[in-house]
Amino acid sequence: IPAADAAPLLLEWYDRHHRDLPWRVSPPMARRGIVADPYHVWLSEVMLQQTTVQAVKAYFEKFLSLWPTVEDLARAENEDVMKAWAGLGYYARARNLKKCAEAVANDHGGRFPDTEDGLKSLPGIGDYTAAAIAAIAFNRRSAVLDGNVERVISRLYAIETPLPAAKPEMRARVAALTPESRPGDFAQAMMDLGATICTPKRPACSLCPFRAHCRALAVADPETFPRKAQK
Ligand code: ADE
Repeated sequence: IPAADAAPLLLEWYDRHHRDLPWRVSPPMARRGIVADPYHVWLSEVMLQQTTVQAVKAYFEKFLSLWPTVEDLARAENEDVMKAWAGLGYYARARNLKKCAEAVANDHGGRFPDTEDGLKSLPGIGDYTAAAIAAIAFNRRSAVLDGNVERVISRLYAIETPLPAAKPEMRARVAALTPESRPGDFAQAMMDLGATICTPKRPACSLCPFRAHCRALAVADPETFPRKAQK
């Protein structure tokens, strides 16, 4: 697909079919350059690591009602945070959540750093989360690569290299497709596409905005991508 064609196609699809998620700024606002609250984006992305979107919604709302700002969360009792987290699993994430809130409140004046590198210096924020916050909250043109995006990209380019060896190639492909305007919507659109259309099993290719450009659909069975390493 010509790099300049991908984002307009995907964003047009996203504007019509995006999922309404409580941490998102809606596309009309996003188009006017209004970006999402970094605290909301961070909280949702940490919760979404290894937990489904559906399960996260209620926890996200509960955390924001208990602790409306990152400084409120920084001042919270550890025990209360762990209690509110109960059910989400992976309790190391909850401990890191509190540590990260304290770092933002105490070392950064209550404001999240607005670059990938700055974000990565915070507890519990790795490559994926830093890229996601930079793109979604700060409109940075960072390449956001999660499992959903890996699947979309592996099919779009019929990448024969198995994961994880294919990651650098996939990252470069995503970086090349990511637009100057609305990079955060582009990242979320790729994730929504992977979650709802370009699914692991029985993808709904006839509904895909990339169907005319997908190499896997043209030459093979999309379901067989991403390739798996021989055991
Ligand atoms: N999975 C993780 N973060 C997401 C996001 N911002 N939108 C959709 N799916 C996601």
